Amino acid sequence: MSRILVTGSTEGLGRAAAEALQSAGHRVVVHARSPGRATALRPLLDRGADAVTGDLTDRDAVRRIAAELNDADPLDAVIHNAGVWRGPAVMPVNIIAPYLLTALLPAPRRLVYLSSGSHFGGQPTVQGVDWLGGSAGSYADSKPFVTALAAAVARLRPGVRSNAVDPGWVPTRMGGPGAPDDLELGHLTQEWLATSDEPEALTTGGYWYHRELRPPHPAVHDEAFQDRLLAALAEETGTAL
Ligand SMILES: NC(=O)c1ccc[n+]([C@@H]2O[C@H](COP(=O)([O-])OP(=O)(O)OC[C@H]3O[C@@H](n4cnc5c(N)ncnc54)[C@H](OP(=O)(O)O)[C@@H]3O)[C@@H](O)[C@H]2O)c1
Repeated sequence: MSRILVTGSTEGLGRAAAEALQSAGHRVVVHARSPGRATALRPLLDRGADAVTGDLTDRDAVRRIAAELNDADPLDAVIHNAGVWRGPAVMPVNIIAPYLLTALLPAPRRLVYLSSGSHFGGQPTVQGVDWLGGSAGSYADSKPFVTALAAAVARLRPGVRSNAVDPGWVPTRMGGPGAPDDLELGHLTQEWLATSDEPEALTTGGYWYHRELRPPHPAVHDEAFQDRLLAALAEETGTAL
């Protein structure tokens, strides 16, 4: 049995992953942006899930969440699932929050980051990015960042299994009702990477789609790009990995 944080577990893929992990007997820590949104988590809480709340666009809230988790029972895994498709929250939620949580939570041995097929269309450059989200960020640009973060953590934290997952275009609130891919397959890989001891699931630095390794955008494994990204994120947040 593992103890696993799933960020953004009120809806969509995060909700489905948290429910599946709990049904499989794992201890789940669910996450909502506010106490009001946490009411959506009632069925999971009634079955014994722990919860943290905080808006991931608020860096102080992210730091408080990390402090609360560091004071609680140790986490075995984190699924960095929360994400937004458009608007000023894109960079804060899709890359700053997972970066800060990764930096501030050194203990979990398994880290899973939600990437996207859209990352192939993103610009892997840290020049001119509005990390604070004063202007709308590009979703496609945020996903090479988080995919490269997963690969950099795999390189820099020996013993930690860190992977990125493209869940496919699936019918959640973000994906829309007409999304063509399979919602169940869309969260299975995250659960498998977070908990399974099958040899393949113990890979690190992978980019996965439906439990198959795929080659990501070439920038993802470019160590010079990873280092530029980590330096920019450390400077922006005042927190080094
Ligand atoms: N669906 C797809 O087709 C698809 C494809 C590729 C990648 N992905 C990735 O998969 C992940 C999950 O997407 P999804 O389709 O499940 O999206 P979703 O249904 O819109 O759910 C997003 C989750 O993130 C939470 N969240 C968003 N902004 C937040 C904030 N500021 N603070 C705290 N929580 C916040 C949401 O909370 P609220 O309910 O309170 O808003 C919700 O729980 C994302 O990283 C996304 O980029 C999805």
